[in-house]
Amino acid sequence: MIDIHCHILPGIDDGPPDIRESIEMAQIAYDDGIRHIIATPHFSADHYTHRQRVRDKVDELQNQLHLHNIDVTIYAGHEVRLENADFIKEHTLSENFFYLGAACKFILLEQVWEGYCKETPEIVESFLKRGIRPIIPHPERHFFFRDHPQLLVNLIDQGCLTQVSVDSLLGKNSEEARSFSHWLIENDYMHVIATDAHNVRRKPNLSEGFRIVTEIAGEERADEIRWRLEQIIMS
Ligand SMILES: [Fe+2]
Repeated sequence: MIDIHCHILPGIDDGPPDIRESIEMAQIAYDDGIRHIIATPHFSADHYTHRQRVRDKVDELQNQLHLHNIDVTIYAGHEVRLENADFIKEHTLSENFFYLGAACKFILLEQVWEGYCKETPEIVESFLKRGIRPIIPHPERHFFFRDHPQLLVNLIDQGCLTQVSVDSLLGKNSEEARSFSHWLIENDYMHVIATDAHNVRRKPNLSEGFRIVTEIAGEERADEIRWRLEQIIMS
């Protein structure tokens, strides 16, 4: 399995504090059946994780996984927070963050928690024009998407993908997030799932997510998600 959203790098954001816990997370992921992880530290006003730091941490962790015989491949990525349009424009021009996928065709573009960024459609359009497809992480955890699902549907119609977090499906985030995540699956507004793991408690748990998707929408839908995750990481 492929996890496209995981805070597994040590001491870089609010993920694991040290390499020991990163290795433990990788072992949990391996035992769950995960073989590829895109490391997506926050890129935001409060976590300014420059590309070179991410690259160094990925190399450090990958070396340790080889030493510990944990067969998981780590890729460099970012979870970019849409602080505002200027923030995105500035850091896009300076190439300060990583896109997702072998050909950099996707961006994990997170909303702020306080409220919907009204400039989102304009930002999305600017990425789409350059052949980059935004993936919206955990929309089910944002109150404004739950209160106004049409905001999310409009972004999907525009060309965005959505990523639901396994912890939300399991009800570990909130009851509201759980029920909205199930609604997204039932209405075919969920394109992929990911763990958004941060440590060994908020851990990599993708197989449980696939179990729930299969229960709600059937094996074919689960296969669609697996296919999309491959497309994201390979293209
Ligand atoms: Fe995240």
